[in-house]
Amino acid sequence: MTGGLLTEPAPAAPWPPVQRVVTVAGRRPVGAYVELSLAAPEVAERAVPGQFVAFAVGGPTSAHLLRRSIAIAGVGGGQVQVVVSAHGPGSSWLAGLAPGDVVDVVGPLGRPFPMPPPGTPALLVGGGYGAAALVGLAGRLRATGSEVAAVTGAASAGRLCSVQELGSLAAPFVVMTDDGSAGRRGWVTDAVAELVNGAGVVYACGPMGMLRAVADVATAAGVPSYVAVEESMACGIGVCMTCVLPVVGGDGRTRFARSCVEGPVFGGDRVRFADVGTLPADVVGADAMGLTPPAVPTPAGSPPTPVAPPEADPGTPGASS
Ligand SMILES: Cc1cc2nc3c(=O)[nH]c(=O)nc-3n(C[C@H](O)[C@H](O)[C@H](O)COP(=O)(O)OP(=O)(O)OC[C@H]3O[C@@H](n4cnc5c(N)ncnc54)[C@H](O)[C@@H]3O)c2cc1C
Ligand code: FES
Repeated sequence: MTGGLLTEPAPAAPWPPVQRVVTVAGRRPVGAYVELSLAAPEVAERAVPGQFVAFAVGGPTSAHLLRRSIAIAGVGGGQVQVVVSAHGPGSSWLAGLAPGDVVDVVGPLGRPFPMPPPGTPALLVGGGYGAAALVGLAGRLRATGSEVAAVTGAASAGRLCSVQELGSLAAPFVVMTDDGSAGRRGWVTDAVAELVNGAGVVYACGPMGMLRAVADVATAAGVPSYVAVEESMACGIGVCMTCVLPVVGGDGRTRFARSCVEGPVFGGDRVRFADVGTLPADVVGADAMGLTPPAVPTPAGSPPTPVAPPEADPGTPGASS
């Protein structure tokens, strides 16, 4: 991470978001995933690539209190598309919805992918279902005169997503799988390293490890990058602090940013990936959290004297950083 590429976030999304009970207009399997089309015109007309929606899951008598966040994969004709990977109770319930069912949705939420100056060549990098969230971005970039290259990857062929859609908008377009069951065998970063020097900006959506690797390649090449992170979210609207991660600001200082409202898209050179899930001692407010001792008060006019830090406790979160 250099922190020097000045990747700035997009402005905050308009508030409040739309909350509606909407009808499932379509459902189709997409490899290992399920794509749902929702009749949600008010969400569709406001949505911008990179944003997400949050679903109440389990039906009207559900005991699942937390909404589930899912990236917006496309909009059109008053509908919103999402691609769901079923694994836990909420995502499995969503993936089991059928046309005609209703679901309570809030959105669009979060900050979208910032657009580069018109004509900037862009490299889009998707991992698994994360590729779906890049299709709308590819179309938007092309509409503003950008050449779009793309790389998409997954563990195996069945876990790829939106290959046709992204492939029709990007050239070159490279498919990578870990096991070689589709496209080239290897990691997306293999192809990113080959293409990054032709890009003026890189966008990535996928698993955290992939985002980190892509951001590292882009930053090392001096190319700004934007990553859409997928931190666990409880409220989705900026209240609970569940979704925070350490992000370096324009002043060079690290703060915990809420990925639901300050993100989910961040500058790739801004996210301290190695410290995600920890409490870094240099984060703004660390002293208030008991991570670093407060400065000892001194007479007016002289600078405060910091207290020597205590021995790092191996059991203290962030002690290793
Ligand atoms: C911005 C964003 C975009 C996403 N896009 C997609 C997408 O396009 N497709 C897709 O399939 N998935 C997507 N996800 C992931 C999806 O939200 C989760 O897979 C889903 O919430 C899991 O719910 P579950 O009940 O199936 O599983 P569980 O793992 O059982 O999750 C249950 C609930 O607990 C919450 N939770 C988990 N860990 C914690 C924690 N440590 N503290 C507080 N709450 C926690 C989860 O957010 C969820 O609400 C996205 C997530 C985010 C944040
Ligand atoms: S999920 Fe509650 S603040 Fe982000």
